[in-house]
Amino acid sequence: MSSGEKREDTDGAVNGGQHIYFPLNGGDFSDAGAGSKSLRCELAALGVPAQLIRRAAICSFEAEINVIIHAVAGSLRYSIEGETLTITVTDMGPGIKDVGLAMKEGYTTAPVWAREFGWGSGMGLPNIKKNADALSIDSVPGEGTTLEITINLKTPQLNARQE
Ligand SMILES: Nc1ncnc2c1ncn2[C@@H]1O[C@H](COP(=O)(O)OP(=O)(O)OP(=O)(O)O)[C@@H](O)[C@H]1O
Ligand SMILES: [Mg+2]
Repeated sequence: MSSGEKREDTDGAVNGGQHIYFPLNGGDFSDAGAGSKSLRCELAALGVPAQLIRRAAICSFEAEINVIIHAVAGSLRYSIEGETLTITVTDMGPGIKDVGLAMKEGYTTAPVWAREFGWGSGMGLPNIKKNADALSIDSVPGEGTTLEITINLKTPQLNARQE
């Protein structure tokens, strides 16, 4: 499948919800942002407030970039079911040995090539946590990592915490 191409994932369809899938490849920035962009457009078309779209975009983009920088290959998929947006980013990669440490602001193992592109501040996971209503990280060292990010699309009061 070419970079950034999307398809409906019928295997993952739950309760009639639509799951859209974007492949990601380690070291390949041409994949970066395709999933986030699709998500932003879809939320805008649904009339979701800009603050919520911004939070979703931060979460999805940081997670996409993490696969590209830290893993070998993976994918982003999202679904909107009722008032709940779920973004799932899964990869085959080194995994995260100590998730608590990885969640700390400033902690990074980003390689030099990624730092040269301006990444590697150790702020991606903390930013996802701040902008999500729920975040679960399931990681197996030597196998890979799965992030599940949930955002409630009907909680405008949560927007205030980002201001
Ligand atoms: N998908 C992943 N696979 C393996 N390790 C990861 C993954 N995502 C994050 N990590 C680990 O967690 C650390 C912190 O991630 P985080 O996104 O917060 O910062 P970063 O990616 O290093 O830098 P930044 O996101 O600011 O560009 C990473 O440096 C890496 O060690
Ligand atoms: Mg990151």
